Amino acid sequence: MSSFLNGKRILLVISGSIAAIKAPDIIRLFRRKKADIRCLVTKGGAHFITPLALASLSGHPVAQDMWDESEESSIRHIRLAREADVIIVAPASADFISKMANGLANDLASTVILAADSPILVAPAMNHRMWHHSATQRNIHRLKSDGIAFIDPEAGPMACGETGIGRLADPEDIILSTESLLAREENHQSLKNRHFIVTAGPTYEPIDPVRYLANRSSGKQGFAIAEALQKSGAKVTLIAGPVYQATPDGVDRVNVETAIEMEEAVEAALPADGAIFTAAVADWRFRYSPYKYKKGRSAPDLTLIENPDILSTISHKKTDRPFLVIGFAAESEDLLENAKLKLQKKGCDWVIANSVIGNEEAPSAMGGDYNKISIISHADVENWALMSKKEIALHLVSKIADYFNLANNFPSSIISK
Ligand code: CTP
Repeated sequence: MSSFLNGKRILLVISGSIAAIKAPDIIRLFRRKKADIRCLVTKGGAHFITPLALASLSGHPVAQDMWDESEESSIRHIRLAREADVIIVAPASADFISKMANGLANDLASTVILAADSPILVAPAMNHRMWHHSATQRNIHRLKSDGIAFIDPEAGPMACGETGIGRLADPEDIILSTESLLAREENHQSLKNRHFIVTAGPTYEPIDPVRYLANRSSGKQGFAIAEALQKSGAKVTLIAGPVYQATPDGVDRVNVETAIEMEEAVEAALPADGAIFTAAVADWRFRYSPYKYKKGRSAPDLTLIENPDILSTISHKKTDRPFLVIGFAAESEDLLENAKLKLQKKGCDWVIANSVIGNEEAPSAMGGDYNKISIISHADVENWALMSKKEIALHLVSKIADYFNLANNFPSSIISK
């Protein structure tokens, strides 16, 4: 599975901030993802990083001057703007953000921005007082409402000796945000008018008023999928067990605790075009004791009662079965064999297999930010490379959009019914 950055043309605009010294890290990371990166540095930026260093690292000449006679300078800004699939301004100084917000075009960088119709991601970096200044915040607000994407600066010690918010975002996060921006463009509205149900996180099965049975699920993968679906134009109902994850913008979240509550919430959310079951649902519950078990007496009788299998119930529905039902298989051994059996047994369309035991190839799927998955359908098996859970979500949503677009029996949308 290749990155959304593979072969993409990135224009990195470097403006005047000490964080310009991080440009080499950004360039390296983009090149590692096989993106074709070119740099444009402002006069201020060139005080911190030399055009020669940028040219060596990117493998391309660096654009700098509006009035360079060696090139077809009169149309240079148009060409740079047109050729880029995405423009990243990193670091973006307070001055450059102000220029962008006001539509100034008095050097090559600001002129390119004004001539661009490709998506733009801005990564600000400045002193924390400049960041909090109402003029800066007003400019950012204006740019955001114009559709410009931002990756917020981080808090920490600054070059000036002060501490606060204003440090350039981590280069890894800049790469990830660029990837999301490109994915969002590609997936843009691809699932418009479609309703998806996503389950996420663990379930808690109470034993008595103070104790419960739980598992290590963080909910990260389900929340990332819900966010990616919403950004592709889908209406999303996210049914979450107890997790500490922020609700993605625009997603309808229903909080539940037990497997039975989760099943009720899924049924209540139907009809849906698709349902993705990422939750680590407890397979068993206990007969609940309204009184706390006390020690000193005989050990409590913790007989287990089997919980409903939500994925299987929804997949086997005669009416209101979502067009695409996806389950996850968390396995500790015989990953593909067990996942294939689950596909048959549960009656879903795809099973996403992931290992809950870490090894040298990939960490455990439980809790961390990365995962290595295989997607098993009734037709084939796709093995994906190790990726962050956010990247997996973006690629999965592209695959889901293709499935809906290509299916011969393309059903009309649930929402528009
Ligand atoms: N699932 C569900 N309801 C349950 C148990 C599981 O909806 N009571 C869903 C999960 O959300 C996941 C899939 O079924 O999409 C597989 O879950 P998993 O825990 O891997 O498997 P189990 O069904 O629990 O089977 P086993 O314990 O044999 O691994």
